[in-house]
Amino acid sequence: MIPEFFIQELLTRIDIVDVVERYVPLRKGGANYSACCPFHAEKTPSFTVSPAKQFYHCFGCGAHGSAIGFVMQYAGLGFIEAVEELAASIGLSVPQEEHQRTARAGKEPLTEVMARATRFYREQLKASAKAIDYLKARGLSGEIAARFGLGYAPDDWQGLKKIFPDYAASALLECGLVIDSEQGRRYDRFRDRIMFPIQDQRGNVIGFGGRVIGEGEPKYLNSPETPLFEKGRELYGLHQARKAIQGEDAVLVVEGYMDVVGLAQSGVEHVVATLGTAATDANVQRLLKLAHRVVFCFDRDNAGDRAAWRAMEVSLGHLSDDRTVEILQMPGTQDPDEFIRAQGREAFLQHTRQATRLSEFLIRELVRQSPPVTPEGRAKLVHLASPLLQKISAPILRVQIVKEIAARAQLSQAEVEAQCNLRPLARSRYASAQMKRRPIPSSIEHKLLEIVLYKAEWAARLPLGLISGETPAGAALIAIAEAFEHGELPAGGLGLLSEFFRGTPHQPLIAALLTTLDDEVDFSALETVFNDAILRLRHDALTAEIEQLAARARQGLSPEERQQLADLLAKKRSADALLQENNPLV
Ligand code: UTP
Ligand code: MN
Repeated sequence: MIPEFFIQELLTRIDIVDVVERYVPLRKGGANYSACCPFHAEKTPSFTVSPAKQFYHCFGCGAHGSAIGFVMQYAGLGFIEAVEELAASIGLSVPQEEHQRTARAGKEPLTEVMARATRFYREQLKASAKAIDYLKARGLSGEIAARFGLGYAPDDWQGLKKIFPDYAASALLECGLVIDSEQGRRYDRFRDRIMFPIQDQRGNVIGFGGRVIGEGEPKYLNSPETPLFEKGRELYGLHQARKAIQGEDAVLVVEGYMDVVGLAQSGVEHVVATLGTAATDANVQRLLKLAHRVVFCFDRDNAGDRAAWRAMEVSLGHLSDDRTVEILQMPGTQDPDEFIRAQGREAFLQHTRQATRLSEFLIRELVRQSPPVTPEGRAKLVHLASPLLQKISAPILRVQIVKEIAARAQLSQAEVEAQCNLRPLARSRYASAQMKRRPIPSSIEHKLLEIVLYKAEWAARLPLGLISGETPAGAALIAIAEAFEHGELPAGGLGLLSEFFRGTPHQPLIAALLTTLDDEVDFSALETVFNDAILRLRHDALTAEIEQLAARARQGLSPEERQQLADLLAKKRSADALLQENNPLV
């Protein structure tokens, strides 16, 4: 864990203009510098660097961030590596001191416990001929093993004691590294297994998958859910794949650890795996933000077929018209790792090009379940389609699929829409591309978000109960306030804040706002606006409550309710007065 103060110091000592200029020639224009964007092909410069904000942004592809983010993105490094690289460039060394301002203050952070275990397993791999032979037999080079941090858990009930002298520490249990038996004896969860570290998007190890060497049950043993590790949210291999995904603007999603590592060994790097069997909403949301094309690869067995159907169901709710989800079923009984080992990179890539579009997969599967060759078959087809059509969030695509179903069911489009209860869809809920282009509406939540981006510590003053998590700005505000409360929020300026939200649903909005912020602000004026916005939130909440009560007044109110209404009206009058006083123009 790199101490927060060090990151702040680093960011104050380096200048983003110098850092970017090491890689990309910059031209000065006004307060900012510009260049052709290094992250996408372009002829006219839309990449800008702001020395005042210590922030870069490309208006073409949306790339943005601090000096650290630039090095991560340009050199494909992880957060920690990028910090180390930048520190080295100005002759600083990264302190190894264990210091973290979290709820666990005073204890060793769990991420550090996991990092220590990872180092131990890696060392053990070097010492185990049996484990090395196994990986070699599976075609893996030392280089790939190192890239994925593969390790070996020794065949020892308390192997971790060697590096954790305080083997009774609660942190070991919290990390899922040990198990306490009913007799109160503690032992290592992972023994005599090849260890696959699971990293979060910043490169911290948050869990492990452990494979038996050869045959044995269970084949893979995984970390349990821990405070660090929420299976449904994470994607194995994302940290290593990020740059390739960006380059390809596509991501392949496979079923297993070995598929990710095996494909990387053969030079196919834009690959991640879900952890557990099925893709979750959180997975799909994140995948669709990473690339415009998401291809799920499934083995041709019962589990694979079920997972394919499930991936389709989940994806329907996250589609937008400018992104595609495809389903790739492996031929025969090979999984992607076996296929690429047998047939090579080109054959595999060729196969991925033949993936089935989600719409085609949906229709093909429905027709298989209910062949539309009789009136009953056609009726059942529409019946089966109904819940799926209701899920689709991409308006144009939904029309297309409805038309296809209608044709097969011998109905009109309107008839299918009516039968399936389809309401008109205005705009895709997850159209992040559109969000970037749309002017930002200036709701109160947006105003507050803008202000909190300048002054993160004010997030502690937000009345969270009055902020709706349903709007993107409200959800981002809540996330910032929560991160602040847990002491997780980096206090190193705007760029670092955007880094913190990299890969989260809040990132597009925060990035868009960061680019519109002024370079210089008057904090006392800003505080007035902030207080005013909060007053307004309170005022609006009161108004809504009053309206609700008043609407019911027609049916008669109980004495308590009448009293409540009178109180609310009094509160609203004083809120009105305060607003007037603060802001005579309204
Ligand atoms: P597979 O059984 O398809 O394994 O499980 P694989 O990826 O082909 O592994 P190798 O090639 O035999 O080594 C796919 C994924 O399902 C989970 C793991 O995440 C695995 O990568 N799994 C499988 C488990 O969690 N436990 C198991 O016992 C088996
Ligand atoms: Mn396999």
